[in-house]
Amino acid sequence: MAVKSKHVRRGLWNHLMRTGVEMGLASIIYEVGVASKYVNHAMRTGDLGLAGTSNLYGEEQLALDVLADEIIKDRLDHTGRVSKIVSEEQSEIIIFERSGRRRQYAVCYDPLDGSSLVDVNLAVGTIVSIYPGDDPLQPGKNQVGAMFVVYGPRTTLVYSTGNGVFEFTLNSLGEYTLTRENIFMKEQGNLYSPGGLRSEYLPEHERYVASLEADGYKLRYSGGFVPDINQILLKGSGVFMYPATRKSPCGKLRLPFELNPMAYLVEQAGGGASTGTERILDVVPGDLDQRSPVYIGCRREVALAERILNGGE
Ligand code: F6P
Ligand code: MN
Repeated sequence: MAVKSKHVRRGLWNHLMRTGVEMGLASIIYEVGVASKYVNHAMRTGDLGLAGTSNLYGEEQLALDVLADEIIKDRLDHTGRVSKIVSEEQSEIIIFERSGRRRQYAVCYDPLDGSSLVDVNLAVGTIVSIYPGDDPLQPGKNQVGAMFVVYGPRTTLVYSTGNGVFEFTLNSLGEYTLTRENIFMKEQGNLYSPGGLRSEYLPEHERYVASLEADGYKLRYSGGFVPDINQILLKGSGVFMYPATRKSPCGKLRLPFELNPMAYLVEQAGGGASTGTERILDVVPGDLDQRSPVYIGCRREVALAERILNGGE
């Protein structure tokens, strides 16, 4: 007799199918989830042998971010649905050879953002952005899905395909099960997560940060983009920013691998994401390395940033 229990949490694949996500898109999200288990394992055990071997001390050891890149690349290829990829770890677009009509998505990803934080046991993450067709360098508004994985005290996966934002948590059986449905941000919150050196702030940005501080916003910054955004998104509160600075007029974070996917997820959750003058998702990318200042989070905080950066109060 089949046992039915309302206490069994919904798994990732089951959720993707029940919510009607197109099969190719679902495969990509699911396979990134599979890849993340191997990345998670390598990170937690220090086993940096090539995937499939367990050579802890052998010559095949790779840096964790390079290993994460290999694992995710192989899994994306394995879906048979991806035409081209571009990774923060690679300098060029990679074309998957066995082209075919089913390879109808292009993917940009950051395999292990914040990898230098692993040594001090802070949370890090994987970020993925999915486009239709075979051009991975499209404006972010063309995305058909985006996701990230946080490797923290728990391993969690957040995704959207334009129909709600969902969080899954990896359990001890190696399954991602649904832990939060339809994540939605408040109109306004009380957290701020500020990147960049304060001594290099431009005057308008300094005024913006001072105004948040005067309003009692609490500082929450770990230096890991994925956990920092995850906090703003899941608490539904406040703003993450990495501004233009005196030394870096375009900020630090990259449009294709970091900003577009996070902007998509935050917008899907009712928030906003701006360069300070323009919606992030409207920016037309020029090259793989394109960076942009960013203000991302609750709509009120993002609107206030745009106002102050453009000379308002
Ligand atoms: O892109 C790398 C990264 O480590 C992000 O994870 C993070 O948001 C940012 O850089 C931190 O930069 P900074 O050390 O300048 O605050
Ligand atoms: Mn990165």
